[in-house]
Amino acid sequence: MKVILDMDPGVDDALALILALNSKELEVLAVTIVAGNTSLSNATINALRVLELIGCDVPVAMGESKSIMGYELAMPFTFIHGYDGLGDLNLPIPNKKAESIHAIDLIIDKLKSHSYGEITIIATGPLTNIAKFIIKDYEVAKKVNQIISMGGAFNITPYGIGNQTPVAEFNIFRDPEAASIVYNSRLNVTAVGLDVTMNPSIFIDKEMHKKILEKDTKTSKFVANIIKRSIENYGFFAPHDPLAVAISIDPKLVKIMPLHVKVETKGEFTRGQTIIDKRWWVKKKEDEKSNVNVCVDVDGKRFLDMFMERVVENW
Ligand code: BDR
Ligand code: CA
Repeated sequence: MKVILDMDPGVDDALALILALNSKELEVLAVTIVAGNTSLSNATINALRVLELIGCDVPVAMGESKSIMGYELAMPFTFIHGYDGLGDLNLPIPNKKAESIHAIDLIIDKLKSHSYGEITIIATGPLTNIAKFIIKDYEVAKKVNQIISMGGAFNITPYGIGNQTPVAEFNIFRDPEAASIVYNSRLNVTAVGLDVTMNPSIFIDKEMHKKILEKDTKTSKFVANIIKRSIENYGFFAPHDPLAVAISIDPKLVKIMPLHVKVETKGEFTRGQTIIDKRWWVKKKEDEKSNVNVCVDVDGKRFLDMFMERVVENW
């Protein structure tokens, strides 16, 4: 399957990229960058670092640094990603450079030169590039097979609570208007939210971290180092973004429910919340038919086996 990865690397985005590049079922056509976990330039450098590490030549294009409403998308620092997005390890600057084309135009070009349903987009950052590309050329956007978006906290499982605010997940919170555009685009959208990515069965715990350290290959050292901060701060690492890539390879890793999701764009305390009306006794209106396929359960063991084998063991 041909994929475009739209991401904000970011530790777990970097792992998602490694997983995609090491999976023979996927052909990565392009990596497009959005700001989020770190600045647009840091995120771009981080994607290029991963491509050099794995030895893959895939075009990387820079996209948006501001949200649809014009706010900065980037967090200057987080406990998981640090200042530079990869845990402040002072990794060398890559030789490879980004393309001069804008991310949105690269996505459009790739879709134009492929058939209907040939390309899946996996978006693991704020949805700004994706929303803007849909607005720019909706006819071309209709050629997408599926948009798999890591984002949202749907309050369906006990893990589906916010991480950026009590009710909002990071990627949606950074640009709720973009998420609303994508969710309501009538394209085939699947949301891999915290309901599944915060399920402890997919966590990389201290013991697994030790195993990764013991592997002692170039990639395993990189992986162990970039997740170290999270293991030290929280005792585990949640591989949110790799799960989004994993389901493009094996959709049966998750249970999916088609649901109508509304994105809160106004609330003082609830901006970025992804809302599902669970009131079974209220008849749904015509315009409230399902718009998003929401992941509601995950086979943690099978996912971790895939992750370890493809991201750590064989490389
Ligand atoms: C999401 O937010 C980012 O910090 C991660 O890279 C992931 O995409 C999890 O809420
Ligand atoms: Ca991300």
